[in-house]
Amino acid sequence: MLSHSNIRFHARSGGALKGRLRVPGDKSISHRSIMLGSLAEGTTHVSGFLEGEDSLATLNAFRQMGVNIEGPENGRVVICGVGMHGLKAPQTPLDLGNSGTSMRLLSGLLAGQGLDLTLTGDASLSSRPMRRVTEPLRLMGARVDTTDAGTAPLHIRPVPSLKAIDYELPVASAQVKSCVLLAGLYADGVTCVTESAPTRDHTERMLQGFGYALQRDGSRVCLKGGGKLIACDIDVPADISSAAFFLVGVSIAPGSDLTLEHVGMNPTRDGIINILRLMGADIEVSNERSVGGEPVADLRVRHAPLKGIRIPEDQVPLAIDEFPALFVAAACAEGETVLTGAEELRVKESDRIQVMADGLQTLGVDARPTPDGMIIQGGQIHGGEVDSHGDHRIAMSFAMAALRSDGDIHIRDCANVNTSFPAFDRIAGDAGLKLEVEHG
Ligand code: S3P
Repeated sequence: MLSHSNIRFHARSGGALKGRLRVPGDKSISHRSIMLGSLAEGTTHVSGFLEGEDSLATLNAFRQMGVNIEGPENGRVVICGVGMHGLKAPQTPLDLGNSGTSMRLLSGLLAGQGLDLTLTGDASLSSRPMRRVTEPLRLMGARVDTTDAGTAPLHIRPVPSLKAIDYELPVASAQVKSCVLLAGLYADGVTCVTESAPTRDHTERMLQGFGYALQRDGSRVCLKGGGKLIACDIDVPADISSAAFFLVGVSIAPGSDLTLEHVGMNPTRDGIINILRLMGADIEVSNERSVGGEPVADLRVRHAPLKGIRIPEDQVPLAIDEFPALFVAAACAEGETVLTGAEELRVKESDRIQVMADGLQTLGVDARPTPDGMIIQGGQIHGGEVDSHGDHRIAMSFAMAALRSDGDIHIRDCANVNTSFPAFDRIAGDAGLKLEVEHG
């Protein structure tokens, strides 16, 4: 494995993005395809699977629990489901690397399996809050231990049964919602989750795709434990969170005109499009269709002058992973952009408010972090050297910033781009980004 701290990006200033491309598969859907495919009866065929380190961590975890999985090969994965009770205890702790989704969803999925096992992760994942999942699981009667700080490793102990709960999410988090629903598959009775704001609903959609009955009523979703999943085929759309870097890059770079194909357009994920349009972006949606219960479309985006806005708080959960890129858009916009209600950004793969503010300031941008957001005055981005703190989305956002900077941008600690966007350098380079990857 490559050392994670010694891959750097050197993004040369200027250029434009042009052509057509398809970004890799959706990370959230890829994780869930392995999880539900493994628990299903029958063989699940997945295409468009994201071959990034995060979704591969999930895939390897299920292999370690005895599931026969072929691939991935060109995005194709074949999962021989073992049924709801067919997983085996792994010989060693399950190492989930950098992947919060793997850890939080698996904690729920595994809590009622009667297995004794440990979930571990890298330094970033081991510092992220896990009580948000262990607390509802405790209410269900599970035994999932954290460190004293409420962090991983998570030790899951066998319990005789789980009981259903009616849970109101204290944070708008699809990972917590999914954790409780997946534990609910194994609980006695009907488990319900109510969310304060809509968050991505891929778990709900995919459970239904696997034939599991689910009641959805506004912000509340309920399911009865003890059912089964029936294998199905899954076509994973391109990840809108990866497309986001190009939506921003094209918008800020004069002369750009790019079409992104087969992008997942789930309405719980499209905040990036809504926010960029409010800023003046030129995004054309075409060829709208549905693949396996998820809406998909092609997006043509052309350079347009952006203006600063106050970002509506209801868009925050719908664009939660896109703020590093949106901060770059704001830095290139005319006027002030204000983000509030986004304190969750502080507990992502890095503290995305602080790390982005530090980097933007280094590049000469007036970016002021606040406890729950940022205030950015648009202006000229200069060249310089910034640190991504091992956060994939921060590395890719600063790479796109070079399209508008007046000097080259050097970005440290970029290996984790492989967690969500393998071959970013090649795909972005083919579109016109002047990016070099430096080792050592
Ligand atoms: C995800 C949910 C979000 C998101 C993460 C993926 C998921 O996290 O940031 O990248 O697949 O459920 P939260 O649930 O913590 O907001």
